[in-house]
Amino acid sequence: MVKICCIGAGYVGGPTMAVIALKCPEVEVVVVDIAAPRINAWNSDHLPIYEPGLDDVVKQCRGKNLFFSTDVEKHVAEADIVFVSVNTPTKTQGLGAGKAADLTYWESAARMIADVSKTDKIVVEKSTVPVKTAEAIERILTHNRKGINFTILSNPEFLAEGTAIADLFKPDRVLIGGRETPEGQKAIHALRDVYAHWVPLDRILCTNLWSAELSKLAANAFLAQRISSVNAMSALCEATGADVSQVSHSIGTDSRIGPKFLNASVGFGGSCFQKDILNLVYICECNGLPEVANYWKQVIKVNDYQKNRFVNRVVSSMFNTVSGKKIAVLGFAFKKDTGDTRETPAIDVCKGLLGDKAKLSIYDPQVSEDQIMRDLAMKKFDWDHPAHLQPLSPTSNKQVSVVWDAYEAIKDAHGICIMTEWDEFKNLDYQKVHDSMQKPAFVFDGRNVVDVNKLREIGFIVYSIGKPLDSWLKDMPAVA
Ligand code: UDX
Ligand code: UDX
Ligand code: ADP
Repeated sequence: MVKICCIGAGYVGGPTMAVIALKCPEVEVVVVDIAAPRINAWNSDHLPIYEPGLDDVVKQCRGKNLFFSTDVEKHVAEADIVFVSVNTPTKTQGLGAGKAADLTYWESAARMIADVSKTDKIVVEKSTVPVKTAEAIERILTHNRKGINFTILSNPEFLAEGTAIADLFKPDRVLIGGRETPEGQKAIHALRDVYAHWVPLDRILCTNLWSAELSKLAANAFLAQRISSVNAMSALCEATGADVSQVSHSIGTDSRIGPKFLNASVGFGGSCFQKDILNLVYICECNGLPEVANYWKQVIKVNDYQKNRFVNRVVSSMFNTVSGKKIAVLGFAFKKDTGDTRETPAIDVCKGLLGDKAKLSIYDPQVSEDQIMRDLAMKKFDWDHPAHLQPLSPTSNKQVSVVWDAYEAIKDAHGICIMTEWDEFKNLDYQKVHDSMQKPAFVFDGRNVVDVNKLREIGFIVYSIGKPLDSWLKDMPAVA
């Protein structure tokens, strides 16, 4: 029986290992983590992450060939294949601060593997790391090895949150990078055999180590670049009277461009895009390629511009001040079907509105009050460090309340900001909503979910990213 151990029971490690266990009944999979509350949650009826379909997969395998444990060293020692899926925050201090990846957690995991191993192992990089990390890890392992062979592979994960299970069941591709040595090739084949239980062989791509590592950063950079491109267009659409949805549809029908990932929004969020691009930028700078670094930096600049633009639009529309006004914030997660708030644009928008002294009433069907308060108190880049290093929620923040119902958030509000495209926001009773608000009643749709014409008929003043402006908004001062 092949034994797999995954270090890190997070958004990537948890779902990926659950699916491997489901598809490979003869493989024993143990997911380990130093965070006991996380492991306890994986062993309970309330999994630590919300992901459609995940409960079902975990229920089918847990206790059979899928286990969650805090006994990290024991399970690493027993495994043939060790996946490493620990967090890789952006450095906040020292060399490369604000750009480079902080590999502290990775390095400590690698040293621990070297310490406890008594048999040969394949060590798989699963978390996104800078190019050439494998080389550094290989050095740590081989300098401490005591006659044991470690073979390192890079097997980046491409799942997206909210669709993780579907993505894992039917991936566009699985990428495995390894050394071009006989041992490297043997390890690639061993890992390929695991995925071949359910992924067609022509979708399992095998490359060298550096190509696999770089492909992951490049894929996320390209995806984010599409969103910044369409978001840049959305600003031009608002200025000219074009409709960004029509433009997206028109360009997406060109098979060279393709229709997916062209939805204009208040900005992209999530744990990967910004972090991976910053990392890419840093790697380019370190390799003497400032022009390439500047090209990719622009993707993040446009994303920040889009969030600022949204806040400015809200404030300028409402007579240039939101001071003391109640604003309902609908949705806080970085996209629908997840409770994840890492790098969500809602944080920057809320902070911007709070800076103008608005009173916020926030509702998200999957995000807790505690999480929202923590996010609003946190400094940039601190989210990827353990909870005990994060600030406690401010207990007396009178400017922010978190409620468990959209109508409650909206009652008596001057404006609504839609931050996440949850389906329920499409189907609210907008007449009832209008009746319960202060007038004029504003809707600022950061996700293009509402029917703009219908809402205008009801009497709302509506702003929707990249859509032709309401005459009201046209008369307001230009937005930078
Ligand atoms: C382009 C558009 O494709 C077409 O839809 C529009 O109507 C006119 O402009 P064209 O300039 O004729 O057409 O050729 P195209 O095939 O798009 O190539 C443009 C340039 O990009 C060429 O120099 C080509 O060599 C280069 N290119 C194209 C690349 O360097 N790499 C690629 O992957 C594709
Ligand atoms: C992303 C990649 O898609 C995935 O392959 C990689 O493994 C991890 O990073 P994820 O961050 O989970 O996945 O979600 P994704 O669906 O890519 O969305 C990222 C952000 O872009 C979200 O905030 C989303 O709302 C936004 N987005 C996405 C848009 O604004 N417009 C779009 O058209 C698509
Ligand atoms: P991702 O989104 O990449 O899955 P997460 O932050 O959700 O990232 O998960 C990473 C997990 O790795 C966390 O639960 C963290 O406790 C765990 N972790 C970090 N370092 C170690 C380590 N040395 N040993 C075991 N677990 C670790």
